[in-house]
Amino acid sequence: MENLSRRKALSLGVALGLVGAANPLQAWAATSPAAPGTNPEWIWDDAADPLMVSMLEQGEVPGINAAWASWVNNDDPLPAGLPPEFAAYLGRVNRLPSWADPAKLARAADFNRRRDTYLFMLYGLGSGIMSTVIPREAKSVYWSAGGADMQDRAAKTFTFGYDLAELNAFEPSGQFVVTANKTRVVHAAVRHLLPQSPHWRAVADETVPISAADVLVTFHSLGTYVYRKLRDWRIPFPAADQEAFLHSWQVAVHLLGVPVEHIPRTWAEAERQSAQVLTPILTPSTEGIALAEELLGLTAQVDLGVTRGFLNEFVRYVLSDQVGDWLGLRRDYAAAALVRTAWPAFVLFREGLSPIMPNSFFMLDQFVRALAMLFLNKGTSGKTTPITIPTGNRAA
Ligand code: HEM
Repeated sequence: MENLSRRKALSLGVALGLVGAANPLQAWAATSPAAPGTNPEWIWDDAADPLMVSMLEQGEVPGINAAWASWVNNDDPLPAGLPPEFAAYLGRVNRLPSWADPAKLARAADFNRRRDTYLFMLYGLGSGIMSTVIPREAKSVYWSAGGADMQDRAAKTFTFGYDLAELNAFEPSGQFVVTANKTRVVHAAVRHLLPQSPHWRAVADETVPISAADVLVTFHSLGTYVYRKLRDWRIPFPAADQEAFLHSWQVAVHLLGVPVEHIPRTWAEAERQSAQVLTPILTPSTEGIALAEELLGLTAQVDLGVTRGFLNEFVRYVLSDQVGDWLGLRRDYAAAALVRTAWPAFVLFREGLSPIMPNSFFMLDQFVRALAMLFLNKGTSGKTTPITIPTGNRAA
């Protein structure tokens, strides 16, 4: 079985009537708005994948990385010096889809600005650490080239969140369309490279990584997770903001190459899909535990005004004790009590929903501000962190 590609395994599964048995993604097609019979677990990226195979095999990638370093803003012309077929591909995809709604995207940008402290915190400590208990993501991130330097990788990933959260993200002067397109071809390169890694092959439960379903799982760990948390925390979130926030993610996920018919149309649909495809797959792995330690160690290097014990407990608070236990996050019961009582009071006070200022208000305020700064500085470097296409994998 292990030499069968996933596509072949699918055909076999269909023939045997066994497709996706015991796999939570199996039910996807049933709830997906897409045509019956299609399943994003078996969709990768028909436009970018073959192109990146030929770019890698022809040794074009270092030249592309050099040529596109200065290609940053959505309205920048395509850089000179790209191989013609690569330039032609970018010319086709580097634009907003026709269904993108500028009014909603503008509202999403404004929402991101108004809510940036919570968003950065939830993306950084919630989604960021959650990614380490999504086994496929943890294993591919760990064994890809970028896994060897998590500080740099985290900074690049922050770039995605930062560019998405910018006020002009989707406008000509913004950067998000370019960042998303760079990310899309990085993923396409990874689909060709990782299967060549004996380390990845030894631990992977798939033969080609980063399917459309995997990208949707990651979307749920980011957008859907943050949406739920903001609501749980009773942060004012008018319907128009909710819709705009969803729309910005729909556009983002589509720019990463996911066919529109597989993208949830409403938050209710997203939450249903998330319960089906994200929650049941969360589990620790050797790679994920190592990545979480690196990410939290990295965050602890920056002065957030809190101890590592507080940070561990905050992660437990936003992700559950089960995730904290899986990742071996050392307990700090005093910090746990503080987080669980002071944080809800802090949010209510900050949002004007309660007149009582918690004693720890300034400490928590410094914490959220410092985390936001970490994002706004694009990671720890304070400089632009260009996304580059890898040409190999992590060695060991
Ligand atoms: C690279 C974002 C889904 C695995 C990247 C990069 C960004 C990014 C910004 C480029 C920066 C870097 O090199 O680190 C996203 C977003 C996703 C998503 C926003 C979904 C909404 C996934 C999924 C997987 C994955 C589902 C695997 C299951 C990787 C890997 C790299 C990468 C292995 C390459 C790192 C390297 O250079 O070695 N992603 N990603 N990503 N992503 Fe994703």
